[in-house]
Amino acid sequence: MSRRKQIYEGKAKILYEGPEPGTLVQYFKDDATAFNAQKKATLDGKGVLNNRISEFIMLRLMEIGIPTHFIRRLNMREQLIKRVEIVPLEVICRNVAAGTMSKRLGIEEGEKLPRAIVEFCLKRDDLGDPLIAEEHIYAFGWATQGELDEMIAMTLRINDYLQGMFAGVGIRLIDFKLEFGRLEHPDGLGGHMIVLADEISPDSCRLWDLETNKKLDKDRFRRDLGEVTEAYTEVATRLGILKPNP
Ligand code: C5P
Repeated sequence: MSRRKQIYEGKAKILYEGPEPGTLVQYFKDDATAFNAQKKATLDGKGVLNNRISEFIMLRLMEIGIPTHFIRRLNMREQLIKRVEIVPLEVICRNVAAGTMSKRLGIEEGEKLPRAIVEFCLKRDDLGDPLIAEEHIYAFGWATQGELDEMIAMTLRINDYLQGMFAGVGIRLIDFKLEFGRLEHPDGLGGHMIVLADEISPDSCRLWDLETNKKLDKDRFRRDLGEVTEAYTEVATRLGILKPNP
């Protein structure tokens, strides 16, 4: 591993140069951070769980025709991905009020929203990923209108699919964050296409048990609720990724 060239190190993942041109290896760390890295911890096994859960979700989404950066899982902590140019936005989709939306708009956590709401944040750690409007995105050239339309359409489709997938295993999808990348279009005509990138895991989603509202996501870490990896393990087990303990 040490011979591989490191391309980028984030809070929960490292990207290495991949074995073939146009590929990267995405390594899932056990590190957890919250509140823009003011709170930090290492959670044994989190990286392994997120690698498996994100692989599972990316594969399901690819089956329904969502283009992603995912190629295949390499081992317990690594997956091979396509190298993309990351769009500097975090696209957040919410079904139920929680987190910063509850705080910002004074809507009680747990209140069902009238419809799915898509929000955009600028990916800038030094600014704490501020909420932005579509106007900022076009004016500053972070994405074109065509690209943003595609990201919104994909996000809503992913939301529909994931809500059903999680409901099937007794989990309510409260909200989640997506990142997208630009990939050279395979038609070879020089254009780019938008693909889903990064990860989808309990680090980037809010997942509540349908019956008890028990939190099965990173809020357990953010709010010191304990049993973080146990909750992630429960998500993986319910999705059929891990075998239940006898
Ligand atoms: O904190 P907030 O309520 O804005 O988060 C909305 C959703 O986006 C949550 O599921 C959270 O886990 C996710 N998120 C993320 N990375 C961020 C900000 C939010 O995965 N930097």
